[in-house]
Amino acid sequence: MDQPAVVLQDLSHRFVTPSGAMMDVLQDVSVTVREKEFFTVVGPSGCGKSTLLNIASGLLQPKAGTVKRLKGDRELEKLEIGYITQDSNLFPWCTVIENVMMPLEIRKLPKRERVERARDWIKIVGLEGFENHYPRQLSGGMQKRCAIARTMVYEPEVLLMDEPFGALDAITKVTMQKTILDLWQQRQTSVMFITHDLTEAIALSDRVAVMTGRPGRIRRTVDIPLERPRDVYNITDLKNFRELRHELWDLLETDLES
Ligand SMILES: Nc1ncnc2c1ncn2[C@@H]1O[C@H](COP(=O)(O)OP(=O)(O)O)[C@@H](O)[C@H]1O
Ligand SMILES: [Mg+2]
Repeated sequence: MDQPAVVLQDLSHRFVTPSGAMMDVLQDVSVTVREKEFFTVVGPSGCGKSTLLNIASGLLQPKAGTVKRLKGDRELEKLEIGYITQDSNLFPWCTVIENVMMPLEIRKLPKRERVERARDWIKIVGLEGFENHYPRQLSGGMQKRCAIARTMVYEPEVLLMDEPFGALDAITKVTMQKTILDLWQQRQTSVMFITHDLTEAIALSDRVAVMTGRPGRIRRTVDIPLERPRDVYNITDLKNFRELRHELWDLLETDLES
């Protein structure tokens, strides 16, 4: 568990704004996600969370700093990283099963195995019977399940998720949290998760990093010492829950006031 899986060191990034000015978005961010850890980043809107995950995924090159994604001593290839972006990004012209098979096609798996593995994952995420539906024929929660299946189907070593449940209703959200926790527990993936929901962060994570306002820095990383497996439905009843929530909220609030 103490082996590093994602090592982000002294990252800084800036963008050019539409008016042509430079805007610092991340400043000296260092994060280490350990192997098999559920690591979450919270922070105020616009502080650079998505930018950080884009950098962690390898899609975006930081202006300064280094990124490593590891399995033991080996550096992972891009195809071994799973990235579930904020909007599910399903292919609208593909059915559920075609969407889920896509990464396997890219990896050139034989047709039979593609179909088998896609069917397995469609079942795991509870979309059996919807194989031939198009994304537009699914609810938001079902689309999210499809996106999760499409990523998990190639068994990534590292799973990056950017506010995956942000747009879902409260009931669907908790159900999805349970799905993700169960999968994480069974598959033993290393997870880097982004949310602005402190209850979600506490319910899911081993550690939570709190970011400052832009330019985003890591203010502090807090351990979440709640027992596993966790009951996401009743997490707020736990004795330490309120304390943890207070601690995180205080760290966030420092920025919201200024
Ligand atoms: N490609 C881009 N070009 C210019 N500005 C960007 C780009 N992507 C993000 N930004 C800006 O960088 C800041 C941080 O964005 P983002 O990482 O999406 O924040 P968060 O996910 O924490 O809400 C925002 O002000 C956003 O407008
Ligand atoms: Mg974002």
